Amino acid sequence: MIVSVERAVEILEDGGIVGMPTETVYGLAANALSAKAIAKVFEAKKRPWFDPLIVHIPSVEFLSQLVTTVPPAAEVLAKAFWPGPLTLVLPKKDNIPDLVTAGMSTVAVRVPAHPVAQELLRACKFPLAAPSANLFGRVSPTTSFDVLDQLEGRIDGCVEGGECEVGVESTIVDLSGPQARLLRPGGIAREDIEALIGPLATSSTPMGENGEAMSAPGTCKRHYSPDTPIQFADEAVIPDDCRVGLIAFGPRKGRRQGFVKMVNLSEAGDLHEAASHLYAALRQMDLCGLDFVVVERIPETGLGLAINDRLRRAAAREDD
Ligand code: TXA
Ligand code: MG
Repeated sequence: MIVSVERAVEILEDGGIVGMPTETVYGLAANALSAKAIAKVFEAKKRPWFDPLIVHIPSVEFLSQLVTTVPPAAEVLAKAFWPGPLTLVLPKKDNIPDLVTAGMSTVAVRVPAHPVAQELLRACKFPLAAPSANLFGRVSPTTSFDVLDQLEGRIDGCVEGGECEVGVESTIVDLSGPQARLLRPGGIAREDIEALIGPLATSSTPMGENGEAMSAPGTCKRHYSPDTPIQFADEAVIPDDCRVGLIAFGPRKGRRQGFVKMVNLSEAGDLHEAASHLYAALRQMDLCGLDFVVVERIPETGLGLAINDRLRRAAAREDD
């Protein structure tokens, strides 16, 4: 059910959960300071309890309510990219329930740019924890229709905010340790961050407080997964007589033969446009009764990093 911002605020104040548009993907929001409300988010998404949530605030001024220290790099990045698709991981304050951070001593924080998210956050008297509003492991929603398609009946409503402009999740940078780390490529290009604070370490398995390897953003190899098997064009092995779809990128030199369905992420070869079409393209392919989807490689620069990351995870098989 679509609900107004006013109704959403009431629901959230009562400890309920609602879909919320952001410029990246739709989130499933709850009062970040209420463990009871947060538990409902995990249940609705069927999300494992060890996977922590991102906390959303209306502006950088609210950051000090959630974290114990704001290092200079955080100030620089917040000034450059907030509001926007960047999430910062910082040492958390005690008021944040353990459920939000999966018991870690850090919290992930973001200031979304979407005007409806801003309106909602400013009307609430508390920050909003919000993972992407999909069932765990599935393709993230970029319209309210996608949210309700997966979660209707499991959530208390969804606020309408149109199509998400960025289309892939936020970039996550961990600034809680001595070295800044890129935990997840996303809507802000790695190069743009490094231009401001220097080289980022890359880590798919950051160490927990006791040196144990712990679950990090999207480290589940199979993630963002559509129903139809996906293969990259340069390594595709397709048996005869299969119904195959193509997710293309860039100008068409000649017509590609033999595809039942083709979607071009960006004919102009624009990575921002491609990111904004990615999840819709994966969902569209799932509706076509295909045996396989073949995807063309995207250049590994700018937002291409995030697009390829999601495609690799979408292509990973359960037993990988
Ligand atoms: O663009 C986005 O970031 C969207 C919108 C709704 O804001 N949200 C989103 O949330 O993508 P989610 O839950 O799908 O992904 C958040 C990721 C998770 O993979 C989680 O492991 C990681 O952030 N994360 C959260 N807190 C963390 C922390 N304290 N340290 C490291 N990773 C953390
Ligand atoms: Mg997600």
